[in-house]
Amino acid sequence: MAEVIVLESAALAGEFVAAHIAERVGHQPRFTLGVATGSTPLPVYRALRQRADAGVDFSQMSAFALDEYVGLPAVHPESYRAVIDREVTVPLGLDPERVHVPDGSLAGIETAGDRYERALIAHGGVDLQLLGIGTTGHLGFNEPGSSFGSLTRVKTLTQRTRMDNARFFASLDDVPIHCVTQGLGTILRARHLVLLAFGDGKADAVAAAVEGPVTASMPGSAIQLHAHVTVVLDPAAASGLKYLDYYRWAQDNKPAWQGV
Ligand code: PGA
Repeated sequence: MAEVIVLESAALAGEFVAAHIAERVGHQPRFTLGVATGSTPLPVYRALRQRADAGVDFSQMSAFALDEYVGLPAVHPESYRAVIDREVTVPLGLDPERVHVPDGSLAGIETAGDRYERALIAHGGVDLQLLGIGTTGHLGFNEPGSSFGSLTRVKTLTQRTRMDNARFFASLDDVPIHCVTQGLGTILRARHLVLLAFGDGKADAVAAAVEGPVTASMPGSAIQLHAHVTVVLDPAAASGLKYLDYYRWAQDNKPAWQGV
């Protein structure tokens, strides 16, 4: 079962996750962080940046992004390459050579998934994968119907996801239709999954992912197949959970030696 942790705000959740990452990097400077985009991971990046500014050294860390839009130039401010550079690579002082994002260029798109899988495997995989969850239940851009065994490949975004992401673009028409995303099978290879969600708009997806049936119709439910999952929520995102009282009880009575 996933461990569910409810904190009072997204900022506190970001602090909590950043503290854990910083501690891991302290022991293992060549830590590999799986990075996500969208609004959800921003409090984690903000809290990591404060640590970098205070002298924590992240320069040996590697990062692998979950996904990328197809056909946006890498310099487009909303390409995930640009977002990761802006939110992670530059503020944390990572070596750009160690930061990997799937290649969404149209030229060679047929092989983008395989190339990314090979890079991940050659590197030795991801130590901790940050995840958001879409209102459709997607992890990365694995929309409903994605196979739990899927690897990095081109997917078609749902209209719902395009509408959710239109806030980052001038208009809905500007939101790409295709993406390259790590598959659910790829994500499940990461050694630790940390799923974050904030706000009541995510409550249904969180409840279905954590407590609902394991089904390809709810890609987030793939987390139930992983041995080490931490779900970090604010009270609004946790509000649909049937066993919330138990999760809070477990959180309050957690043996200190267990760690995150
Ligand atoms: P959001 O997106 O963090 O912008 O809500 C989450 C997701 O689509 O996975």
